Amino acid sequence: MRVLGIAGSPRRGGNTDLLLGEVMRGAASRGAEVKTITLNNLKIAPCQHCDGCLEAGRCRVMDDMQMVYRELEAADRIVLASPIQFMAVTAQMKAMIDRCQALWARKYVLKMPPLGNRRGRKGLFISVGGRKVANLFEPALATIRALFNTLDIAYAGDLLFHGVDEKGAITKYPDALHQAFLAGQKLVEE
Ligand SMILES: Cc1cc2nc3c(=O)[nH]c(=O)nc-3n(C[C@H](O)[C@H](O)[C@H](O)COP(=O)(O)O)c2cc1C
Repeated sequence: MRVLGIAGSPRRGGNTDLLLGEVMRGAASRGAEVKTITLNNLKIAPCQHCDGCLEAGRCRVMDDMQMVYRELEAADRIVLASPIQFMAVTAQMKAMIDRCQALWARKYVLKMPPLGNRRGRKGLFISVGGRKVANLFEPALATIRALFNTLDIAYAGDLLFHGVDEKGAITKYPDALHQAFLAGQKLVEE
């Protein structure tokens, strides 16, 4: 069981990083092989809509996204972590998601499995936002659900915390890190 964590925040050691770390620790405690990649350390250009992927099912843009495609293909569980920025996932996360258009093309145009023959993938979404407003997570959830649907990743759940703004404030949220640890365990047991 291989678990891929994808950190979408630009803030190292911030709130979503802490939650993601606990999810991965929980998964590892149940014997999973875990790997986390931090998008902010990578060079991932936005999708150029060149339509090159419609022919080959592969993206023509040669940057760090090529490594992310390989990691997605090798994973059984995928954990996406992004804070809310202007009511959406971060630009780092959105660039990675948009580059999955190549996998959309594989599936819907070329009628191939988007991530190869491995089946039964599941995904978890982690997010926090500084404010306490209604529907804070809805735009991000719509994006993540669209991605998971495209990649044939079953939605295994989410960890969403509002009113969490300063770096490390998630540690004051009752039980949040423990919930994340348990969610990591559950993710690999299901
Ligand atoms: C550019 C930017 C935009 C933000 N937009 C929102 C927002 O729309 N709603 C909100 O609740 N918080 C917003 N925030 C606050 C972050 O979601 C919050 O600080 C969060 O705890 C950061 O998580 P991190 O430590 O994982 O990066 C924004 C922060 C930044 C830097």
